[in-house]
Amino acid sequence: MIYDFDKLIERRGTHSTKWDAMAERVGVTAEDAIPMWVAEMDFEGPQEVREALAAEVERLTFGYYTGDITWRQAMSDWLDRHHGWQIDPDWVTPTPGVCSGLALAIQAFSDEGDTIVVFSPVYHAFYTYIDANDRQAFSHQMSEENGRYRMDLDRLEETLPDNAKMVFFCSPHNPGGTVWHPEEIRALCGFCERHDLILVADEIHHDLVYPGNQHHVTQMVAPGITDRLITCAGATKTFNLAGAHVGGAVIANEKLRRKFRKMAKRSGLLSYSLPGMVATEAAQRHGDEWLSQLLPYLEKNRDLFEAGIQKAIPGARAMHLEATYLSWVDFSGTGLKREDFMSRVGGRARIAASPGPVFGPGGETFVRFNFATPRSRVEEAVARLGEAFADIG
Ligand SMILES: Cc1ncc(COP(=O)(O)O)c(C=O)c1O
Repeated sequence: MIYDFDKLIERRGTHSTKWDAMAERVGVTAEDAIPMWVAEMDFEGPQEVREALAAEVERLTFGYYTGDITWRQAMSDWLDRHHGWQIDPDWVTPTPGVCSGLALAIQAFSDEGDTIVVFSPVYHAFYTYIDANDRQAFSHQMSEENGRYRMDLDRLEETLPDNAKMVFFCSPHNPGGTVWHPEEIRALCGFCERHDLILVADEIHHDLVYPGNQHHVTQMVAPGITDRLITCAGATKTFNLAGAHVGGAVIANEKLRRKFRKMAKRSGLLSYSLPGMVATEAAQRHGDEWLSQLLPYLEKNRDLFEAGIQKAIPGARAMHLEATYLSWVDFSGTGLKREDFMSRVGGRARIAASPGPVFGPGGETFVRFNFATPRSRVEEAVARLGEAFADIG
């Protein structure tokens, strides 16, 4: 079947954070505001997900779920088919979202007061869960080289706090869309081994990679890391199922896995949501064709938005994304102060975007724009930005 990603779906009034919480969470109140903040798409997912959920709705008997054996198998098969990663399905523990997996890893493998290293600017929730668990986040600010982020491990070696226990690695990276090269991943893994650190690899964006780039699975390129590695991934980012709240933590080492599961059990998290599990299993079993149509659509949106923004806003520069649909735009070249460019984006252009500082050091002059929405809306956003910045040329 041919999917129509141009279709405009009315999402206001549908319990959508992205659409219904714009005023409250980002302060953008205009009725015709365009939400380009939360990392989810405005597209319909695969038909097979609709069918699988429709069958459940038709029966309307939402009892307790069983079936995580087939769910684990579906995730393992997906990882093999799309990333060449062959795992034992038993390595996978379903979690209520990737973020729960990150939080459980913090709780299972570090203690209060310990330091967790993050490579900033980075997905803001890393900070949320580190702080909420009374651990210290240590931001290692990355540099930009040839339009990609770079982790400077020599510098990190000199500054690493003594009580560092763990590293959070976002691969591909959000924001900025850097797809890490095998030698970069190997260097990081070697660093973790030398400093006795647990590595948590958040690979949720692994499928959203543009032609010319390839996602490399941490464990595959650096098998030596296996006994200190937790990989969190899932179907929700790929298939626009964030509200399903299901992720999977892949842990090959049995001792680590047992500890992780004990922590999940302690929190009552080893029982799963039926709609979420059914939807994500259907997506990973049958969603290949949908994804193959989605990626070229997103790629065109990326090209349109990146070129558009540079034309619309003199001095602004979008980092060229290798992955993700989250354009990362640097406003430092505009000569405008933060409050000024943010009020032009949110007020004049009526666009709800994510302010850079929430992503930590290095994000100060940036704004993140989500372009996973029908193309007509991306065009409208670019046109509005042009008007909002027309006087600075
Ligand atoms: C790097 C990263 N990890 C995790 C998440 C959220 O995962 P989940 O909704 O499964 O908790 C996101 C969402 O944007 C993300 O960008």
